[in-house]
Amino acid sequence: MGHIYLDYNASTPIDPAVAAAMRPYLEAAYGNPSSGHWAASPAKAALEAARGQVAALLGCAPDEVVFTSGGSEANNLALKGVFFGRREQGQHIVTTRVEHPAILAPCRFLECLGARVTYLPVDGTGRIDPDDLRAAITPATILVSIMHANNEVGTIQPVKACARIARERGVLFHTDAAQSVGKIPTRVDELGVDLLSVAGHKAYAPKGVGALYVRRGVALEPLIHGAGHEGGRRAGTESALLSTGLGKACELARDISGMERVKALRDRFWAALLERFGKRVVLNGHPEMRLPNTLNVSFVGRIGADVLAGLDGVAASTGSACHADRIELSPVLEAMGIPPEVGMGAVRFSLGRATTVQEIDDVIARLANLLTPSA
Ligand SMILES: Cc1ncc(COP(=O)(O)O)c(C=O)c1O
Repeated sequence: MGHIYLDYNASTPIDPAVAAAMRPYLEAAYGNPSSGHWAASPAKAALEAARGQVAALLGCAPDEVVFTSGGSEANNLALKGVFFGRREQGQHIVTTRVEHPAILAPCRFLECLGARVTYLPVDGTGRIDPDDLRAAITPATILVSIMHANNEVGTIQPVKACARIARERGVLFHTDAAQSVGKIPTRVDELGVDLLSVAGHKAYAPKGVGALYVRRGVALEPLIHGAGHEGGRRAGTESALLSTGLGKACELARDISGMERVKALRDRFWAALLERFGKRVVLNGHPEMRLPNTLNVSFVGRIGADVLAGLDGVAASTGSACHADRIELSPVLEAMGIPPEVGMGAVRFSLGRATTVQEIDDVIARLANLLTPSA
């Protein structure tokens, strides 16, 4: 069977326009952007042009953009950078139970170093309640980190309301926007955030590049100490090649009108599943406050991995893992209180720029073959 890619939340292909923008930098602009001679100029120019493109997407100043190796590093820099920079003021961090491991694991690490972390609960749709955040903040709170949109179920968090609460209490606010960039608006002033993480490969840039937005005046201890690259916030000679890729991807991501088509396809997919399978399918995530490309659906009574295996050639993800003879739900589905018999059948389909109506119809037909008992 032909290959169908419905795992854009895991990673995206490099957009052809991004590849075209990067290609010259494989060979040209090889100088070190920090050098003082002729060979530095094109590399420095490429780096700063890219920084401007990222800044234009986020609605911030170019010097508020720090290039990183990806979303994980951006998240680590935000959490550890604030903790190491502010731990004299307090050691309490507030986050949620549904964050990506690139937030949860650094939080656990910081707990080993004396941080106290509050993990906010979510409701059955995966959303936190801003009142829970209000109640969680104490005089020792130095940082709130709440993801913009969830990678597994696509639920969008009330970031604006939460960032307002943090600001009222004088607490820094970070959001992991790895999944939201290019899908929904991510302008930092509209969201009211102080720190925001971008992951290149979720937004049609290559793997190995990302960015952290750092509001002017927010001091961070770097993760990587060295020379004064990136305004002293991240040592290491910058890559004109990778930053150009991220910059072009961010330029493309400013136009999210293409998401209307993706959302329509996603909704067509869900409508067809409901029509064919009725109560045998359950939507995981918020019915409306959800990324336009994400459809996390449980095939009740089935095992997600089995469904995927039967869909030969369809790339998508499951929400449960098989350990020995036990099915373990993902921490996100567990935090949402999804019953095991529903959660174990979870499959995440995530659509993207290249997804076609034929592909969706083909997957629906394959699912019907697989799940409809033959007469
Ligand atoms: C919400 C979220 N944050 C962070 C990351 C990590 O990003 P990267 O793979 O660029 O390190 C991911 C990737 O899966 C993600 O989905």
